[in-house]
Amino acid sequence: MAEKDFPLSAITDNLGTGFIGQKILYYPRLSSTMTAAKKAVQRGTAEGTVVIAGEQTAGRGRLKRPWLTPRGNIALSIILYPSKAYLPYLVMVSSLAVVHSIEAVTGLITQIKWPNDVLINGKKVGGILVETQFSGEKVAYSIVGIGINVSLHPAEYPELQHPATSLGTELGEAVSRPELLRYLFNEFERLYRSLSLADSIVEEWRGRLAMLGRNVRVGMGDRLLEGIAESIARDGSLMLRLPDGSCSRIVAGDVTLIWP
Ligand code: BTN
Repeated sequence: MAEKDFPLSAITDNLGTGFIGQKILYYPRLSSTMTAAKKAVQRGTAEGTVVIAGEQTAGRGRLKRPWLTPRGNIALSIILYPSKAYLPYLVMVSSLAVVHSIEAVTGLITQIKWPNDVLINGKKVGGILVETQFSGEKVAYSIVGIGINVSLHPAEYPELQHPATSLGTELGEAVSRPELLRYLFNEFERLYRSLSLADSIVEEWRGRLAMLGRNVRVGMGDRLLEGIAESIARDGSLMLRLPDGSCSRIVAGDVTLIWP
């Protein structure tokens, strides 16, 4: 998102939020917005500050995977100073904010794949990466990284590891990034503020997850487990029913569907 695409005021004018996106640090080209956001935290930046990159040269995803952000897409990091009790819900708030904004702005139907993928028609269109730093027992800061493929043409990037898509590809027309970002920031703030009522967020998140009740394979480093993705615990972990009838609680991993 270069300034020549649109001015930042297209996002910030009458944004309507109290803190999310009230300060935006825009860089035409960055290694990763996560790194720039950490530097901004060290300078004492306010909660809700958003770092946006026009393109990323070393964007990163979960499990140390690379994340591609050529120009024309969305790569941003939101700086938060949450209480520890909110941590399990940050990925839920973020993914719900992303799916609500995509659906509102484009009308496309989205799904969430545990724990942090946003899918359209079974293909990945967005991802979320939450990094938290503690100071003793307390949270010093959390950074929520959000990547959305807006105009990317997956066929041009054979290095993509999962079946991927973009909003433009699915919709067949260009999608307005300022409109999407304005909706995203408002929705993120609404959901974040409602975390004291976390039950409703967990319920909606569970309801949108692809694969619940299905046979899945879960990769955790060099360990593989197969079973039924039975439910999601309140802290967001995946409860996997194993073939021997026992249940395994998965905190982090990579889920793929086993057909049928
Ligand atoms: C994943 O699906 O594994 C998470 C992808 C997160 C990508 C975003 S893009 C903005 C922010 N900066 C990064 O380097 N990563 C996140």
